[in-house]
Amino acid sequence: MKISIIGGGHVGATCAFLIAKRDLGEVVLVDVVEGLPQGTALDMMQSSSSEGFDSKIFGTNDFEDIADSDLVIVTAGFARKPGMSRLDLLTKNSEIIKLVIENIVKFASNAKVIVVTNPLDAMTYLSLKISGFEKNRVFGMSGVLDSARFKYFIADELSVPMSVVSALVIGSHSELMIPLPRFSSVSEVPLTKLLSERKIDSIIEKTKKGGAQIVSYLKNGSAFYAPAASVAEMAEAIVKDKKKVLPACVYLEGEYGLNDICLGVPAKIGKDGIEEIIELKLNPEEQSFLNKSAESVKEGIENLKLHRSDLFEGDTRKRVN
Ligand code: 2OP
Repeated sequence: MKISIIGGGHVGATCAFLIAKRDLGEVVLVDVVEGLPQGTALDMMQSSSSEGFDSKIFGTNDFEDIADSDLVIVTAGFARKPGMSRLDLLTKNSEIIKLVIENIVKFASNAKVIVVTNPLDAMTYLSLKISGFEKNRVFGMSGVLDSARFKYFIADELSVPMSVVSALVIGSHSELMIPLPRFSSVSEVPLTKLLSERKIDSIIEKTKKGGAQIVSYLKNGSAFYAPAASVAEMAEAIVKDKKKVLPACVYLEGEYGLNDICLGVPAKIGKDGIEEIIELKLNPEEQSFLNKSAESVKEGIENLKLHRSDLFEGDTRKRVN
């Protein structure tokens, strides 16, 4: 397996490290800053004897080196500053995404693509549309991260190990995300039987603000350990064909009553990428939250003002309105 990571900042570098540590394949780390991916890769390789991995990590400034990748992870882009929402990054990051996707189409046209750049749902949609790749091959990492944060806050509140907590967050990667207590449990006991409504509401709030809280601490960047760990979990599901059900940002065509949008819902992930979208039976309140979340993503997508001239090689034309 060849796994390329575009963007050698904190998220990209940590993805490279965690993917190599899991020995998922050969890792190529690409960044435009001269020396950055090379130095980072060499540093990681020098840790491999202590860490006990055999995967090779190669740093480069040249997109050509992603040639024939099986999986490309897109982390390039600006991160939020305190007070900014992820949507504030739309214009700046869409230019970066266009350049990155152009190169993926050129050099790695058979790859599956995981989008990490924010605003994640709109950037996943943009990547899918302009690449012309099939919808199972282009998807975003967000639900794994948001669910991991939800799990952490549940485990912390109940003082139980993370391994017994299962929890699910769907919707957009924004404060309109939807943590679902009805689909969350601790050792199979429903969360709603373990915590009061007030406690659950406060955990939901912490989950929604989990990313922003880190931005406000770091001041000059956003979270990277948990985002990268989420990517590594998705990459492993693909490389090992695990058919694992994970929440991911996927293209919807009628599922959940939504169309022509990329949004977080549970999906089966294996060697072909998104192999199945799982449709949960949401109650009316959950569905209305999902619709609200979708509306905000649609607004972002409309602001992208996608034109036919934005398309790269490939057969996307039929999918662009
Ligand atoms: C986060 O939620 C960076 O969007 C990412 O931390």
